[in-house]
Amino acid sequence: MLAVDNINLHYGAAQALRGVSINADRGKITCVLGRNGVGKSSLLRAITGQHPVSAGTITFENATLNGLAPYARARQGLGYVPQGREIFPLLTVQENLESGFAPLPRKDRFIPDEIFSLFPVLGSMLSRRGGDLSGGQQQQLAIGRAMVMRPKILVLDEPTEGIQPSIITDIGRAIRYLRDSTGMAILLVEQYLDFCREIADRVYIMDRGEIVHEGLAETLDTPEVRRHLTV
Ligand SMILES: Nc1ncnc2c1ncn2[C@@H]1O[C@H](COP(=O)(O)OP(=O)(O)OP(=O)(O)O)[C@@H](O)[C@H]1O
Ligand SMILES: [Mg+2]
Repeated sequence: MLAVDNINLHYGAAQALRGVSINADRGKITCVLGRNGVGKSSLLRAITGQHPVSAGTITFENATLNGLAPYARARQGLGYVPQGREIFPLLTVQENLESGFAPLPRKDRFIPDEIFSLFPVLGSMLSRRGGDLSGGQQQQLAIGRAMVMRPKILVLDEPTEGIQPSIITDIGRAIRYLRDSTGMAILLVEQYLDFCREIADRVYIMDRGEIVHEGLAETLDTPEVRRHLTV
């Protein structure tokens, strides 16, 4: 469904991605694992259109995305949950969810009930300000906001970062539910090995801007994989 083929990405003279290729398929959870600073967010910036690639192609449902602005990619069905959530702290939970309406035609501008069955806490906090929510609640809000536009693929940047274990379990359950109920593709980048091992169908390991391992979640328990993930 999403195919990243041999991309390079630069920040000025510094190269952050080197010949990266990954696929994310419908009905599957694909996880890219890597330590701090190896290029995980850069990969998602390339996919979502926030930073141009300097080589390679990105295709989504057989159409190329290269050169399209982020809003145009959103309109094609790419939902994005950025690192650090980036919810609006002064807007209410409801207003934060409604901020996901932007790429939708007028008739689709409503919040699907499914979001509140996935994350009941959001339903009970609709008039609270985003900034007053806990980190875990903000992560649920950020996922809910991406769900508002009914994406075909959901892309998440370190959804477990700074979140307490019980909420990590809830988020893992929600992501699996989305995969199974809607058949959407899910692509997430993570540093947290155990979360990926539990949730992923397919795993890539990234080190210093390159993909160094690819396989099923069961292939993660080797010394070579651990070497790429420890500092
Ligand atoms: N805007 C930028 N300008 C220059 N260099 C950048 C920029 N953003 C990231 N980098 C560099 O590119 C490399 C990859 O960064 P990136 O944010 O993609 O890593 P990451 O794997 O997401 O890290 P983390 O786990 O800390 O989120 C790093 O060396 C980083 O310092
Ligand atoms: Mg990052």
